[in-house]
Amino acid sequence: MRTKKSPTAFAYRYTRYGDADVLARHSFPLPGPGPDEVSVEVIAAGINHMEVFLRNGREETWADDPWPRGSGSDFAGIVTAVGENVSSIRVGADVIGHVRTGAHASHLNVPADRVVPKPGGVDWETAGGLYLAGATALEMLEDLRIGPDDTLVVTAAAGGVGSIQVQLAAHRGARVIGTCGSRNFDYLRQIGITPVEYGLGIVEHIEKAARGARVTAYIDNFGKETEDVAGALGVPAERYRSSEDRREVELALLRDDPDSVAHGTERLRQITRLAGIGAFRLLVSGLYPIEDIVEAYEDLHKLHSRGKVVLAAHPVTTARTLRARELHESMP
Ligand SMILES: NC(=O)c1ccc[n+]([C@@H]2O[C@H](COP(=O)([O-])OP(=O)(O)OC[C@H]3O[C@@H](n4cnc5c(N)ncnc54)[C@H](OP(=O)(O)O)[C@@H]3O)[C@@H](O)[C@H]2O)c1
Repeated sequence: MRTKKSPTAFAYRYTRYGDADVLARHSFPLPGPGPDEVSVEVIAAGINHMEVFLRNGREETWADDPWPRGSGSDFAGIVTAVGENVSSIRVGADVIGHVRTGAHASHLNVPADRVVPKPGGVDWETAGGLYLAGATALEMLEDLRIGPDDTLVVTAAAGGVGSIQVQLAAHRGARVIGTCGSRNFDYLRQIGITPVEYGLGIVEHIEKAARGARVTAYIDNFGKETEDVAGALGVPAERYRSSEDRREVELALLRDDPDSVAHGTERLRQITRLAGIGAFRLLVSGLYPIEDIVEAYEDLHKLHSRGKVVLAAHPVTTARTLRARELHESMP
């Protein structure tokens, strides 16, 4: 084993179902990496609704997992040690990775096949929040084979998954209409997406935004603008994806069997490449010191995140900063 040092680590874990305040910080000496593993010092880690559902018991997949349980699936960091048989990654490499759970930690040991190199042009905040949202966004576009002939509607278009999905769809040449609250109209326009407010009259609003083009595909991230809306727009059933479909995609991306891990890593590689070439920009509108993990989840729970909420394990300062949302909410 080649190693830099043997650090004391911490991880956020929980021993019962509940809100984010069941998460408690545990300190432990990090063991060295096992064969085929690397040790990673986490710089940034994303938070996602799916880990909330797993933590509060709404999502019952893996209900038999032992306690205590870890939290978090996305991370980016620096390799501090490599285990036996690992030749493709060196100590000191910047990496982006995925785990089913346990990313909300200062350090973690992971199989080397769960990390990919972090390009220099992808900042740590983006890298930390990339996996589940990015891979989900990409998976759904691939599944629908979105391309230049499409006029695609995406709901919750300014959120974590939606904001990546709409930009990638546009990058593939599709015309994209995104639903959002009116305060996000400017944001969506800035990233080249036609915004439409969700709620009453949505079919008419989308038709107007489409300017005579037929809507060919519809992705409902949020779970409210459902199949009825897609049907009223004339979208064929096979080109509609529901929030339940998204759930299936996310669960598949978190599975631990070798094929699923290999698939997840391949998606991570693809989304990292797309971030690196500027096919999308991930807006991190909430960057919290990892110690403020409860507050970060409360922010996510408000359901009005613009882009991603990310935890920073090594923030430059722990001083509170006003987030974009708070600025908006404090305006008269
Ligand atoms: N079915 C599942 O298992 C599953 C899995 C993961 C996520 N989800 C759900 O999918 C949603 C989006 O996920 P995310 O990760 O992108 O979340 P996120 O980053 O928290 O974004 C939430 C987005 O939802 C939008 N929104 C709020 N109220 C809405 C409404 N009534 N109708 C349409 N959009 C609305 C917000 O738009 P504005 O700020 O512009 O209002 C915001 O952009 C979340 O509600 C989440 O719970 C479901």
